[in-house]
This record gives sequence, C-alpha cells and structure tokens, in this order.
Amino acid sequence: MRKILIIGIGAGDPDYMTVQAIKALNRVDVVFIPDKGEEKAGLRQLRTEICERFIEQPGYRTVDLAVPQRAAAGSDYRGSVDDWHAKLAEAYEALFAAELAEGECGGLLVWGDPSLYDSTIRIIKRIRARGFALDYEVIPGISSVQALAAKHRVTLNRIGEPVLVTTGRRLVEGAPNGLDSVVMLDGDQAFAKIPPDDLDIFWGAYLGTSDEILMAGKLAEVRDEIARARAQARAEKGWIMDTYLLRKSEPGI
Ligand SMILES: C[S@@+](CC[C@H](N)C(=O)[O-])C[C@H]1O[C@@H](n2cnc3c(N)ncnc32)[C@H](O)[C@@H]1O
Repeated sequence: MRKILIIGIGAGDPDYMTVQAIKALNRVDVVFIPDKGEEKAGLRQLRTEICERFIEQPGYRTVDLAVPQRAAAGSDYRGSVDDWHAKLAEAYEALFAAELAEGECGGLLVWGDPSLYDSTIRIIKRIRARGFALDYEVIPGISSVQALAAKHRVTLNRIGEPVLVTTGRRLVEGAPNGLDSVVMLDGDQAFAKIPPDDLDIFWGAYLGTSDEILMAGKLAEVRDEIARARAQARAEKGWIMDTYLLRKSEPGI
C-alpha cells in the first residue's frame, strides 16, 4: 500500500524540526511540495531548505503540488471550504497515483503542527473515504502558538484557567465568556476592533524567521503601533503571518 507521512516542520525556524520529523523525512521516497503561488514563495523556499538540510539519503524525489485557489467564501464559509477540500482531495489523489508506486512512502510537509488550522489530515481522510488505498501517519511539529509563547517567555494559560485558540474572524464576534485567546488567521487586524480595556497583547509576526517581529503591552496602548508595524511589514514583504495572545491584564506579567 502507498503511505503518506504528514510531517509537522515547525512554524518558521528550521531548528524547530524535531528528531521524529527528521527521521520521518528520511523515510520518504517522494516529498510533495505545495505551491500556493507567489505570495507564499518564502514558505516554499523554507520547505526546500529543510529537505536539503535534513534528508541524508540522496535518492528522494520532490514533486510540486499545485494548490487550487479557494473561491471567495461569501455567506457560506463552511460550504466553500468543503468544495475546496474536495478539489484538493482530487488533486492529491491524482498526484499520489501518478507519482507514488505501490509500497512507496510520500511526505507532506505541514507548516507548524498538522493539528492546528491545517486541512492536510482531513484531505487524506477524504482520499481514503473515496476508496483510494492509502496508509498515513502524523508527526507533530512546533506550532506558531508554541513559538509565540516561547518568544514572549509567557505561559499561554494562567494557573488552572482555559485558553481559547481562535481566528480573527471569530474574535470580532466576541470571545465566549471573555476567555483569554490565542488568535490565528487574522487577515484583518481584529485586535484593533475589539474593546481593549484590561487586555494585554503578545503579538508575533514571521515567528522563528529572520524577519520576526515581537510586540507586547496593554492592548489600548500598543494596538495602533502593532497595526502600523503589521501594515508596513505586509506591504514590504507582500504577505504576513502573525499570531497573538490576548489575555486579561494582571500585575507582574
Ligand atoms: C493555516 S494556519 C497554520 C497554522 C500552523 N499549522 C501552526 O501550527 O502554526 C496559518 C496561521 O498560523 C499562524 N502562523 C503560522 N506560522 C506563523 C509564524 N511563523 N509567525 C506567526 N504566525 C504564524 C498565523 O496566524 C497564520 O495566519
């Protein structure tokens, strides 16, 4: 049977690669490299660097995986994601059939950790549900959330308290019970649109890379500065990836 290793490669710094991820990379015959177009070319480059640095056996092949564009969500967000996943499953299946021989092993390098805001696991399950015989394993990676906490030298949760991991879109709708939140996938600076009272923010962009930016403080005091830094970095690079922790202010943080 063909096998796919879904390998978490960490969110930005090649040194985030775990020993388990390196071992997994060295088991693969084919590395599938997703190609999301110009704006994510930097991320593609990092995947290539990881392969060159960590794969010791020279015989592996790399195959580009053209990622179809997702249609604008409109009012039906779940429906549009579902359609997109169906297209991805079809494209992945065709590529696995063409590029992986029976008994061979393919690697999908997933940014950060595969369990967090990433659809690779769902897509592989979908391919199997369509009847394509495929085994798979998941290797965890250092997510941007862990990188953010480490860089700011903070814990995500306060003692005995929960923390919500959510998206920018959800944050503007309001965090349930005012929970402390880690916010990802915020294309729209949601932190600048919520009531800032009594909240601290720990913000990080391009974490783990040479372009990393870290800012923290009382939301009311730093949000404009973060918004400016974010807009400028985005304009200069053409894309941005940022994550932040929002939590109720407490003395001595
Ligand atoms: C599609 S999700 C993938 C998350 C990934 N699986 C992880 O474990 O971090 C992409 C979002 O993750 C966050 N992100 C990923 N890498 C990042 C980085 N190096 N610096 C800051 N945020 C990052 C951003 O919020 C971005 O919008």
